[in-house]
Amino acid sequence: MSAELLIAHAKQLVTLAGPARPRTGEEMRTLGIIEDGAALVRDVEIIASGPTSEIEPMADARALRIDARNKVVMPGFVDAHTHPVFTGTREDEYEMRSAGLTYQEIAQRGGGILSTVRKTRRATEEELFEMALPRVRWMLEHGTTTIEAKSGYGLTVEDELKILRVIRRLDRETPLELVPTFLGAHEIPDEYRGSPRSIGSREDYIKLVIEEMLPRVASERLAEYADIFCESHVFTVEEARSVLERAKSLGLGIRFHADQLSCGGGAHLAAELEASTADHLEWTDEEGIESLRRAAVMPVLLPGAVFNLGLTRYAPARAMIEAGLAVVLATDFNPGSSPTPSMQMILSIACAQMRMTPAEAVTAATINAAYSLNRGARLGSLEAGKQADIVIFDAADYRQIPYLFGINHASVVIKSGRIVVDRRAGPHSVTESQIQ
Ligand code: NIG
Ligand code: FE
Repeated sequence: MSAELLIAHAKQLVTLAGPARPRTGEEMRTLGIIEDGAALVRDVEIIASGPTSEIEPMADARALRIDARNKVVMPGFVDAHTHPVFTGTREDEYEMRSAGLTYQEIAQRGGGILSTVRKTRRATEEELFEMALPRVRWMLEHGTTTIEAKSGYGLTVEDELKILRVIRRLDRETPLELVPTFLGAHEIPDEYRGSPRSIGSREDYIKLVIEEMLPRVASERLAEYADIFCESHVFTVEEARSVLERAKSLGLGIRFHADQLSCGGGAHLAAELEASTADHLEWTDEEGIESLRRAAVMPVLLPGAVFNLGLTRYAPARAMIEAGLAVVLATDFNPGSSPTPSMQMILSIACAQMRMTPAEAVTAATINAAYSLNRGARLGSLEAGKQADIVIFDAADYRQIPYLFGINHASVVIKSGRIVVDRRAGPHSVTESQIQ
């Protein structure tokens, strides 16, 4: 007899049911909400979702039952852009930014990405795995059940492969699902910067990425996607084109950091290469949006980085939605620009600062994010046949999730039909009588 789980009487069962493709325009505001809804799970799969009155009679008498009265039930968040494997935190830079220094100025002074690279190189695979475990736990506890995870803090052949192997191990040995992306072109490492102790030029580093790293990553099947930090002070559009074309020829998908701190033609390059996604896009203009639309590239917006860097220019989410782009939201979880694992926080920033509606934000963080990772057929909605990645939120309306910001609303998190987080009556939970 296979195991059944019935989640019943949800105040709102937010199904995201709809066409089997990324959602655009008005579709992003259509959540397929069922009041007093239920989902029936058998093993790893949702076998039915709908009104409790219809679904409950289908359940086996021995099914495990969760009463979701006064709760919101939604698909697990899919976080389509993260950098979770690294050593060390950068609260010193956080403080420097409070004192007025910019992200680029800190990088020029030897901080930024390269400071994390220096530390990450010294760590063993085992140490990196151990250090990533609490981050995986934070993500699950906040309702994220799948992430895209980038390398990029190694910047040597062996250190990049080491990080990608850690990502693979986290995917195999924790409940979180990780989709690996190779980001060997995250920065030019110290030893290729033309100092007296350099072992090569920036061109040599790009050659290393193209001729050694990418073929190894592809032949060892360590990544599904390739990324590059295409930005005026990092890699130019021409450099990005050569790296990403090589990645594509090796069978990797393309998703990359574009137009984050300046409008440098990243969106046009994403369209030219038919990338799956173009990420950041804070500086993308109308022509860039039009290029993305024509090539059906999905924009992955990362407002947590804008917020945390103390910047004011967010990606033009409204113009993108109005142009018909299938917008995605992600945390950009990393130790520098966006150290939050919480998709709930990202929804709050997206609604308040980019004027996305709560419904658009939910779509961007679930079904659209799943499609951006080529997993839309399996993840991102609560429909029969989908994998049972489900979150029960302690909220009576899905709009409370971004609205009541800064707290964790996730109560129960289910990955592949299994309860992996249960915060319903944790040791520190405050009972109602204590509040009154
Ligand atoms: O997405 N833009 C490049 N990479 C990260 C920052 C990484 C870091 O500062 O360590 C980002 O913002
Ligand atoms: Fe990033």
